[in-house]
Amino acid sequence: MRSLIVVAGSFSMLLAQETKIDFVKQIAPILIQHCVECHGAKEQEGELRLDRREFVFVDGKQDEWVVLPGKPDDSEFLRRVQLPASDDDVMPAEGEPLRKEQIDLLRQWIAAGADWPADGDQVFIAAEAAIEKSRIKFELPALDDAAKAKVEAALTALKTRGAVAQRVAADTDAVDVNFSLLREQVGDQDLALLADLAPVLVWLNLSRTAVTDAGLERLTGLPELRRLHLAGTAIGDAGVRHLRGLGKLEYLNLYGSKVGDAGLEALGGLSALRKLYVWETPVTEAGAKALGSKLAALVIDRGEYVTARLQAAEQEIADRQARNKPVNTVCPVSDKPVDPAHAIDHDGIRLGFCCGKCLASFQKDPAAYAAKVAEIKAAAAAAQKPANEICPVSGKPVDPAHTVEHAGKRIAFCCGNCLAKFVADPAAYADKLPK
Ligand code: HEC
Repeated sequence: MRSLIVVAGSFSMLLAQETKIDFVKQIAPILIQHCVECHGAKEQEGELRLDRREFVFVDGKQDEWVVLPGKPDDSEFLRRVQLPASDDDVMPAEGEPLRKEQIDLLRQWIAAGADWPADGDQVFIAAEAAIEKSRIKFELPALDDAAKAKVEAALTALKTRGAVAQRVAADTDAVDVNFSLLREQVGDQDLALLADLAPVLVWLNLSRTAVTDAGLERLTGLPELRRLHLAGTAIGDAGVRHLRGLGKLEYLNLYGSKVGDAGLEALGGLSALRKLYVWETPVTEAGAKALGSKLAALVIDRGEYVTARLQAAEQEIADRQARNKPVNTVCPVSDKPVDPAHAIDHDGIRLGFCCGKCLASFQKDPAAYAAKVAEIKAAAAAAQKPANEICPVSGKPVDPAHTVEHAGKRIAFCCGNCLAKFVADPAAYADKLPK
């Protein structure tokens, strides 16, 4: 008996351990990836920092905490990340919204008390240091004096050409070249100016330039490249194949280029690659997935969320317009056709007028139009009520939940299937409709 109780006890402890959220492994990475850029050491948007315990749970200011331990539904933090993508207040304010699994984890974490252990801050400190380091510090080959002189000459030549060519930071030899401001004036021949920068060129921006697939062959001689922008160029699969040897490439932007799945396949060996942008390219979901399965640490941005946000916004506008559509087509004041721009909510219906003047007269003395309004309400109710009791498709009794407007009447069906059949070919059921 005794041993049974012990077993049961340790089993439930095991369960509790399994469902416990690990702040360092599960929560901190979400904050680091999606929030700290705007709510960290560099920027404190909305005067909020999410990268240290002491800033999230400020002593003595409980009423301002955005995370309320044990109360997920009262936490501003959770409210913001759950908002629809189209909402102005949604967090993160830019970029990809959080995925459902991530939101669920955050909710569980807050519900379980929002534990932020002492070593929690260390993860943020380490991440910030790593970002700082990858920004500024580059392990580059040592240069002899002759190579240094060549680098200086190349920088001068590039500046003369109108490109932005400069050291990434004061304490490094690493160089950043940006041709994108010159746009299509820049072509393949200009890439020859980069050859002597090979040991130090870490960032290169060729976005919107006229470089071609053939021209990219010159990049095979630039093994130190970490970031490459090719957005808005005519580069396609053949061009991307020239990047296969760039083993240090961490960031590649192909937004709006012609690169497709075949080109992505060629990138499978770039194990340093962390971020790839392929929004508005021929790349398919399957193609992105295939590359993602080869490079686990790679984040591929196909911009789906941009489309999703646009669709959500359009849907909202359509819904709002539908809600604002007046129920009447004839103005109760003038008997002229209604202009939907002049409408008000009145007595439970959306009432339309032909013009602002009629609307104003109505609002001065609504009682004078009570009979007209009652007529409109009755007509609106009748229009909502189906004209038939038997489904024209199946001959079964109708379910008022499945209706469609047809030839000025509301027609009901027994089920959604029959409705769909009818909509596909109304003429086939013409003789079954109420006269
Ligand atoms: C691109 C920048 C950006 C990113 C990334 C971002 N935010 Fe914000 N956040 C803002 C700005 C700007 C404000 C202030 C305006 C507002 O309140 O909407 C804000 C405000 C907030 C507030 C309200 C602060 C208050 O005191 O009421 C919360 C909570 C918040 N963000 C949470 C988050 C979370 C959680 C993430 C990550 C999932 C995140 N934010 C990512 C820009 C950002």
